[in-house]
Amino acid sequence: MNIPFLDLQRMDIELKDALKSKFAEMLNAGIFSGGREVSLLESHVSTYLHSPFSIACANGTDAIEIALRALQIGPGDEVIVPAMTWVSTAEVVVMVGAKPVFWDTDANGLLAADWEKAVTSKTKAVIPVHLYGKMVEMERLIAQAKKHKLLVIEDGAQSFGSFQGGKAAGTYGHVGCLSFYPTKNLGALGEAGMCLTNSLELNKRIRMILNHGQLVRDQHEFVGRNSRIDSLQAGFLNVFLTRFESSQVLRKKYASMYFKQLTWLDELQLPTGILEDDYNAHLFVIQTVRRDELKHFLLKKGIGTAIHYPYILPDMKPFHHGGDFQNARNLSQKGLSLPLNPWMKESEIEYVAEAIQDFFT
Ligand SMILES: Cc1ncc(COP(=O)(O)O)c(C=O)c1O
Repeated sequence: MNIPFLDLQRMDIELKDALKSKFAEMLNAGIFSGGREVSLLESHVSTYLHSPFSIACANGTDAIEIALRALQIGPGDEVIVPAMTWVSTAEVVVMVGAKPVFWDTDANGLLAADWEKAVTSKTKAVIPVHLYGKMVEMERLIAQAKKHKLLVIEDGAQSFGSFQGGKAAGTYGHVGCLSFYPTKNLGALGEAGMCLTNSLELNKRIRMILNHGQLVRDQHEFVGRNSRIDSLQAGFLNVFLTRFESSQVLRKKYASMYFKQLTWLDELQLPTGILEDDYNAHLFVIQTVRRDELKHFLLKKGIGTAIHYPYILPDMKPFHHGGDFQNARNLSQKGLSLPLNPWMKESEIEYVAEAIQDFFT
């Protein structure tokens, strides 16, 4: 068998036809920036996530940077960031002139509950990352942030469709940021992202920042930029949204199949709570000290896997930051993401699980 980690060519014919029809419809309409599809996407997401304001933009990295700018975070400010995340989370803090202060994660890669110890007089904000799609415990984090009068920017790039106590990832903080990168649970056919907020004022500022500081054409009130979403991507996302819940059902089903078949392997740590509502099963990350050996073994059997991520941010050249970061480092050395996506077949999940059983027994 050949089981790629993720192969988007595998989308089914009906979906491909729906996307082609959307493209044809948009080509006929002749509107490629802004327009109906962008408004529809924003209102669909607002309804689905119960988010008062949803503002589409060019990608998830921009979404976080724009959130920081809208919250007026800049030079002299410190922002607490988990040591294990995709580089964007810290990169944008540097891009706005502030300083990322890294803190360790728990064993599953979520910002450790004792992050408050990193707070100084310069700390302005904290960025919890819902890594792999699993939500940070937000009630607690928000209470901690309030105590220190900190702003909260949620990095929900991996967690579209995760809900904690009925409240969506990205709707707890001052601003929540989403990525619609093609590999995400809700992914476009290119780059796209979004900011969520329940503040009328932030909604306005975010919209202005991503559109050259203007709300009305040619009325520039401050220096902004262009981070508007590509309208075609908004159109495609509207198509993908109609399929989102059914693809989530498949992800959860496959995650539970892995769980049943792998849970008895003592040498393996499985993702905690992946069948819960606050984990959209974006990534199924197992942990083992024999990670590299297992990866190689699976590859020889035709199974693609991935590592999210092999290095922690404080060790990276652009950041170099002292500290222990034991849990984050452990995860970078032991974590292995198994193929899990709606384009797979049950027989493939079984094949992967059996190969892992073979490896350990
Ligand atoms: C945790 C995290 N933050 C931010 C981003 C940035 O999103 P984008 O790739 O859309 O810029 C990603 C995307 O991979 C991510 O996984």
